[in-house]
Amino acid sequence: MRTSEDWHRRDLSHFRRTTGADLFDVHEHFADWLSTARPGGYHLYEAAAHSAPSTSIRMSAHGDALINLASYNYLGLSVRPEVRAAAARALETYGLGAAGSPHLSGLLAVHEELAEAIAAFKAVESVLLFPTGYSANVGTISALVGPGDVVITDILAHASILDGCAMSGATTRLFRHNDCESLEKKLAGTTGRVLVVVEGVYSMDGDVAPLDDIAALCRRYGARLMVDEAHSAFVFGEHGRGVVEHFGVEDQVDIHLGTLSKSLGGMGGYVGGTRQLIDYLRPYSRSQVFSCALAPAVVGGLVEAVRIARDEPQLRAKLWANVHTMREALVSRGVDVGDSASQVIPIMVRDDVGIFPITEELMAEGVFLNPVRYPAVKRNQSRFRVSVSAAHHPDELVRSAEIIATVLARHGVIA
Ligand SMILES: Cc1ncc(COP(=O)(O)O)c(C=O)c1O
Repeated sequence: MRTSEDWHRRDLSHFRRTTGADLFDVHEHFADWLSTARPGGYHLYEAAAHSAPSTSIRMSAHGDALINLASYNYLGLSVRPEVRAAAARALETYGLGAAGSPHLSGLLAVHEELAEAIAAFKAVESVLLFPTGYSANVGTISALVGPGDVVITDILAHASILDGCAMSGATTRLFRHNDCESLEKKLAGTTGRVLVVVEGVYSMDGDVAPLDDIAALCRRYGARLMVDEAHSAFVFGEHGRGVVEHFGVEDQVDIHLGTLSKSLGGMGGYVGGTRQLIDYLRPYSRSQVFSCALAPAVVGGLVEAVRIARDEPQLRAKLWANVHTMREALVSRGVDVGDSASQVIPIMVRDDVGIFPITEELMAEGVFLNPVRYPAVKRNQSRFRVSVSAAHHPDELVRSAEIIATVLARHGVIA
């Protein structure tokens, strides 16, 4: 006899690749499980906010605003008045949607303006825009490699990288996270054409790839190198050009990929590189050719967001000061923040069921964080993932660190 407590014996992985006679048989089992999993904690996912994802956020229509540590708005740009005004101007000029693929009727002058602004910012010859960062990875990888080729990527690579590898039909090999010895073994044991794909900053741990060593290995073994800077472009490096700038390896990286949804606060993805590379990708990256071009209002806002990221280096200085404040506030209270070296700071809980009541208590005490658990991370590696923003006030960060430490201690996660 199952009880309502049994939901946590199963997770999302149990409802894939089922064997029922009808394809839809599994839906009933899933609905049954969800009916107990939701009250058990899953209601915390896909909870709609009632305000902008700024440094504070309202999770109900009339409730108090919570300190928001969960949104990717690393430079606070999504709510900047200049960005909103630029988005409104583009909406007025172009209307709501682009109404076509960028390959056909959907390309607008404002898309070209944005691609040029990003290319100038990243100091690459040319840039191609995608509807999302996810589709940038899928479209780029599947355009560049195919059956008979090999992609070597980090075992913690983002789902969009893995999905791009799967779609390409190339052989995919995984190396141990950020481990150059493991990467070298894979490179040494591979013949033929090889693409290595890594991230600048890893999204669940906030740690940084050793790009100088990775780039050197790729050169030694004649492999092409692609870096996904979803979490590091516009924030890392003196000029914000990312982890490639931080390590001084910009011209040793063949493919510079990123998203417009995190540091720039909009949506969309981009890939940058030589003009020849981008001209080749333009007709062959199917996720871009066979999708509507980005909405003009978002693109107009993003042009302004790139300008601000370029003209206000003090935003990056503020971000790193805030990261230091938050890390110190957490570590000095005994909170385990893993190997983070960025604005993404994991708070290790390691309790896949206990993380739900902890999340609810944090919200009751004024802090908004999302529980991250399997399958986003390994089992028993559950965590919160703090996203520090330049827009946070240091007092908000210290206050939320106090609340986090108090709640974690109450649940025995820290002493
Ligand atoms: C490393 C990495 N690449 C790509 C993406 C996808 O970006 P987007 O959300 O803009 O589709 C993410 C999003 O979390 C990411 O972390």
